[in-house]
Amino acid sequence: MQPSPTPELSQFAADVLAGLSATPKRLSSRYFYDDEGSRLFMEIMKLPEYYPTQAELKIFEDQSDDILAAFSDNAEGIDLIELGAGDGAKTAVLIEHFLAEDLDFTYSPIDISQEANAALEARFREKFPSLEIRPHTGDYFQVLDSLKNGNGRRKVLMFLGSNIGNFLREKAVDFFRSLRLVMNPNDRLFIGFDMQKDPRVIVAAYDDPQGVTAAFNLNLLTRINRELGADFDPAKFSHYAQYRPVECAARSFLISREKQTVHIEALGRSFDFEQWEPIFMEISQKYTHAMLEELSSESGFTIEAEFLNDEDFYIDSLWRPV
Ligand code: AVI
Repeated sequence: MQPSPTPELSQFAADVLAGLSATPKRLSSRYFYDDEGSRLFMEIMKLPEYYPTQAELKIFEDQSDDILAAFSDNAEGIDLIELGAGDGAKTAVLIEHFLAEDLDFTYSPIDISQEANAALEARFREKFPSLEIRPHTGDYFQVLDSLKNGNGRRKVLMFLGSNIGNFLREKAVDFFRSLRLVMNPNDRLFIGFDMQKDPRVIVAAYDDPQGVTAAFNLNLLTRINRELGADFDPAKFSHYAQYRPVECAARSFLISREKQTVHIEALGRSFDFEQWEPIFMEISQKYTHAMLEELSSESGFTIEAEFLNDEDFYIDSLWRPV
């Protein structure tokens, strides 16, 4: 039986408790993104081995005309809504094109972090003075629900960067179904998916020789030390990434280099690690065309258009509610 967290534990503490009490041990990659984790992820996106960012950027640069046509498709005007925009660098390519083509549109980034939204808003106001930008801070579904019966214009929801790959399959289907519930029939969902490819290319993307991805994973231990009063020694863990071609899934682990015990003050508990014991950190799911067909229909959508990069490395897929 798993120990049940006391009510006063934060969600973070409760998840760490559940994860480190489980067999095999796990920690959730959703907690990677504190300030240092977000900075390290920006570094990852600049690595030559980490191809998804460049692949999606190239799709936007080369196919913005077709994307604009698919988004607007005789609609009177559109409200572009981005879930978790990050630094907005890729979206900026689309926005620049849409403004140049005089598309009637607004842009609303939704993020749980007020600071992330404020930083993006400031950057976009400076770069695109004529852009109508309306950031919303909060939970995706609550914000979208509040926008559902808005002005009757088409909403295009964007979830880029293959962020969906960090969800286990059932979670991904739940997520899409929940989005479906807050969408009107004329709205569209635009999602970035990283495709199955040479396993060596994938492993290199999650195990770069510079060690940035390792630092990104290990940073979660430092975060647990700081926020939950733990005594993890990150030097006693090493990053290990693998790709399983049958499941199309890249997974990363932190491996305990020695037998050790870690105490977490906020949980009032210690956790034992055997030598070479893994902690499962992150899944980065890759997709085949058949998987996308299945995922869309299971979630209540049909695929309306697909934008692939030259090598078929990456797809941005436009889904219509059925
Ligand atoms: C944010 N997410 C899509 C990244 C990915 O590719 O799974 C996170 C990441 N993990 C290691 N490198 C990048």
